Parts: sequence; C-alpha cells; structure tokens
Amino acid sequence: MKGQAVALEIRRDVDLTPYNTFGMRVRAAYFTELCAKDDLPALLASEPFRRGPVLWLGGGSNLLFTQDYPGLVIRMALQGVRILEDDGETVCVEAAAGENWHGFVSHTLSQGWAGLENLSLIPGTVGASPIQNIGAYGVEVQDCIESVLCMDTASGRETVLSRADCHFDYRDSVFKHEGRDRLVVLAVRFRLARHAPLRIGYGDIRAALAEAGVEAQPSAADVSRAVIRIRQSKLPDPAVLGNAGSFFKNPVVSSEQAEALLVRHPDLPHYPAGPGRIKLAAGWLIDRAGLKGYREGDAGVHDRQALVLVNHGQASGKEMWQLAQKVQATVETRYGVRLEPEPIVL
Ligand code: EPU
Repeated sequence: MKGQAVALEIRRDVDLTPYNTFGMRVRAAYFTELCAKDDLPALLASEPFRRGPVLWLGGGSNLLFTQDYPGLVIRMALQGVRILEDDGETVCVEAAAGENWHGFVSHTLSQGWAGLENLSLIPGTVGASPIQNIGAYGVEVQDCIESVLCMDTASGRETVLSRADCHFDYRDSVFKHEGRDRLVVLAVRFRLARHAPLRIGYGDIRAALAEAGVEAQPSAADVSRAVIRIRQSKLPDPAVLGNAGSFFKNPVVSSEQAEALLVRHPDLPHYPAGPGRIKLAAGWLIDRAGLKGYREGDAGVHDRQALVLVNHGQASGKEMWQLAQKVQATVETRYGVRLEPEPIVL
C-alpha cells in the first residue's frame, strides 16, 4: 500500500447549496469530492458514475440549478501548484484543477510572474478556467495557457491538450462541445513571464491606476489591485448576494446588423470580433431596455451591472430562469438580438 489514501466516499442525497454561488437549494442524488488522482479508477468504476448522469463541478460559479440533480455530482478538489520549467525570463507553472482561481492568480503575482493580473478575483477554480476561457479587462485565460492535462473518462487515460487543441474562442473551448462529458480537466499549465507587457487599455483600468497614483509605471500587482477595485465596485460578491457573474454572453452579430442598430443607438458599445462580426455589450442592451435593478420576487437584475442576475435570498432556480427568459424576450423584441446564457442551466 502506498501512502494513506482515504477511500473515495460517495454520499447519497446531498445538499448542493454550499456548492453553487447562486445559492440554489437543490440536492444531488449522489455526491463526491475528488481529492486525489489515485481515486479516479475507483470513481470511474463506481455504480453511480457508470449509470450517470455525471456533473463535474468546480467552484459552482457558472451554473444555475433549476431542479435537483438526478445523478452523481463530483466536486473537483485536486490541489497543488508546481513549476515545470523556469528559463529565468518565463516560467511554466502547473496548477491542479481544484485550486481556487484567485488564490492561484495571487500566488503567481507574489512570485513576480505576470500574465494573469487582469483576471484577478474571478470566482471559481483553475480547472474551470479553460472550459469557459474566462476573460476580463481585455485578457482571456487562453493568452497564458500552454496546455491542459485532462482525463479521458471513456478510456481512463490522461492526455495533454495543447492550446491549439483546446479550440479557444470567446467564452468557449473544446471542453464545452465534444469533450464536455468525456474530458475532465485535471490540471492547467500556464506560461507566465517576469517582464510581460501589461494590458491596461481596457475601460476603467487606467483611471483606477491613476486614482491609486501608480499610472506612470504600474506593476502587474498594481494592475491586479486596480482590477479588484473595479470588480468590487460593480460586481456583487457571491458570498453576499447569490449570482453567477455575467448571466449572458455579449452577443456577436454581423456587421450589417450592428450598423443598423448603431444608426438607431449610436452610443451602443461595440467591439470588433473577427471579419464581418461585431460584439455588442449585452449589459447596455438590458440596461437600456429598462431592466437594470428589475426584480420579480427575489430574482433580480443587478442594479450596478445589468448583465448579472442575482438571487436576493429565496429565489428558486426556476424563478431565476423565468427572469432570464424575460430579459431575453425583452431584448430580442426591442433590438432583434438573441442573448445566450453564459452559465450552464440544469
Ligand atoms: N453597460 C451598461 N449598463 C450595464 C452594464 C454595462 O451600459 O448595466 C455598458 C458599460 O458602460 C460598457 C459596456 O456595457 O460600456 C461593457 O460593460 P463592462 O465593461 O462592465 O463589461 P461587460 O461586457 O458587461 C464583460 C464580461 C465580464 C468582465 C467584463 C470586464 C462577458 C459576458 N462578461 O462584461 O465577465 O468582467 O467584461 O472585462 O463577456 C463574467 O463572465 O462573469 C464576467 C463578469
């Protein structure tokens, strides 16, 4: 026997309230936490896994439960950070999937490694970051990912996906498509640099740096602090007000559709999104449709960022989803643009 491995424990009928940032009071038929890679064979061979359905959970910050989960929920809890390579200028650092995202970002900055500072304070885990290709303030996590270590649950084999294999796009990756149920992220390898150029062009970052008196020569840690201040001023803390961050993706439309909308709404924020494609600010569309701060019972549209839906206390998943559909319908009627949810709705 090597080590002192604790046998994998699969529990029945478990309350998922602590495991989803919307704070939905739902239950899982089966629940387990994966704390060691050595437990994977037993997990894959277990009856609840084989019978399915199976839901792999990170921080639970990008999903909305509208009902109890009928199968097995596996909370990914693998921990560990290690340096794979250090050439003096750049490092390749691997973080296990269950590491807390912001904790990991803070650790990299404390080591003097730049790259992830704009992604500070995003809720969730390292393992979820490539699935969603998390992004904020002009940076996407794909910019710093070298490869992703996965488990193919069909074969039980580990496999390494290069950045190109991951097919990253705006809030999208291979893990959301063919690999969604099959490929499980075990660890992510990041390439970070000691002297990377900082990205401070987005929105309020420059202003926040100026306010802190560090606009002349900001460090990556300064940028991180600025991002934290901006996020705290706009985005609700899930520990205080249940939410899953942006509830909708910013819609990408044809340049013809964008031009037609801009004639009628010249102040609609928009960004280039590839040849002939324009990304529109969904928060602006919802805000101008008059829904910012709107509430139906305890399900609400956040009053400082209309792209975020919030649970003011006792809203059920079904009520949150009804509100989301109302937002979708209102925006579509008014602007002819269909908003797609960002979180997984179960
Ligand atoms: N806007 C409004 N009213 C609102 C919200 C936004 O008019 O209620 C306008 C803003 O004034 C701005 C534009 O819409 O001109 C864009 O707003 P913001 O910069 O706040 O960013 P966003 O597009 O609403 C995206 C990400 C966020 C990320 C921010 C900052 C998506 C779906 N969301 O939001 O990510 O933090 O940019 O980079 O792409 C998340 O994914 O959970 C998330 C919070």
